[in-house]
Amino acid sequence: MMNLLVDSYNRSFSYLRLSVLPVCNFKCAYCLPNGNPTEALHQKHLTQWEIKRLVKALAGLGIEKVRLTGGEPTLRSDLPEIASLISTIPGIQKVALTTNGYRLSEIAGHLKESGVTRLNVSVDSLIPKRFFEITGQDQLLNILKGIETARKVGFQKIKVNVVVMKDVNDSEYEDFILWSQKEDLDVRFIELMSTEDNVLFFKKRHLDLASMEAMLPQMGYSLVPREKDGGPASTWKKTNTQGSVGFIRAYKNGFCDTCNRLRVTSQGELQLCLFGSGNLALRQFLQEDGLEEQIQSEVRLALAGKAPSHFLREGSHGTTRNLAAMGG
Ligand code: 5AD
Ligand code: SF4
Repeated sequence: MMNLLVDSYNRSFSYLRLSVLPVCNFKCAYCLPNGNPTEALHQKHLTQWEIKRLVKALAGLGIEKVRLTGGEPTLRSDLPEIASLISTIPGIQKVALTTNGYRLSEIAGHLKESGVTRLNVSVDSLIPKRFFEITGQDQLLNILKGIETARKVGFQKIKVNVVVMKDVNDSEYEDFILWSQKEDLDVRFIELMSTEDNVLFFKKRHLDLASMEAMLPQMGYSLVPREKDGGPASTWKKTNTQGSVGFIRAYKNGFCDTCNRLRVTSQGELQLCLFGSGNLALRQFLQEDGLEEQIQSEVRLALAGKAPSHFLREGSHGTTRNLAAMGG
C-alpha cells in the first residue's frame, strides 16, 4: 500500500505505537517510582471497538505495524482479543507487544495464537535483588521464565529492553551481551531519557551510551543496516553468534531523522512525538463506523505540522510526565 503519511521533512510513517492502558504494576525508578498516578487509575481507556476503528483508519493511510504498549498492556484481560482484531485488519502485517513480562509465562501461548508477532520485554538487571530495587517487583525469575515460554510457543525474535542507569546497572553491560548470545535475544540498551517526573533521577543516573557502543567493534560486532519499519535503535551483530545488541540513544544527533512512528495514547490522543507537547483528540471519531476519512484527514493535517526533532538536547522534555502514559 502507498504510504500517505509523510511529513514536511520527508519522513514516512508506517508504524503505530498504541498504548492500551496507562496503568502499570511495576514502579520502575525512572518511570513510575511512586506507582500509578491517581488520574491514570480513573481514566477510561479505549475499548476494543474504538481501537479497531482507529487502526483501520490508519491502516488505510499506510500503517503496517502496530505495537501495543502501556503502561502494562498485559494487565488488560482483553489484550488477546485486541491483538486478534488488529491482526486481521487489511494492511496490518505485524502486531508487536511491549511488556514488563509479568504475565508472560501465563499468556505467551495465548498471545501468539492471537496474532502477536513480536515481543519486547523489559529487563533492567539480571541480578534478582537489583531487579527488585529498580522495578519494585521481585519478579526477575518469573520474567526469565516468561521469555523462555515465549520462545517455546514460537516467538522467534524477542527483544529485551535495558534502560542503562549510571552506577545502577551499567556494570552488567557484558553480562547482557553474553546473555543475548546464549539465548539468541536482541538486547537493546536504552539511554535514560528525562521526563517531567524524573528530573532529579535523570541528573544522577543518566549515562551517555556513546562509549559503550564504541566498544562493540572491539568485541567483533558490526553495525547492521536498519529495517524500513525498524525502531530508532542502531543494531550490531557478530558473525556466527546468536542474538544482537542495539542502542537507543535519544540524545544522539540525528536521532529524529529516521522517525517513522505515530503514537496514540490509551485515551485516543495522537501524539506526534514522545516528547512533543500538544496532541490531537481522535476519540470523538471512534464512536461509530464510517468516520475513517475524517480521522485520516485530521491525522494527515497534524502530521504536516510535525517538528523536525525533539528538543531533549536543549533540556526540554515537552509535556511528557513519564513514559507509562505513552508507552515508551
Ligand atoms: N528513559 C528510557 N527508557 C524508558 N522507558 C520508560 N521510561 C523511560 C525513560 N525515562 C522504557 C522502558 C521500556 C520501554 C517501554 O520504555 O524501560 O523498556
Ligand atoms: Fe511500568 Fe514500563 Fe514504566 Fe516500568 S517502565 S513502571 S514496566 S510502564
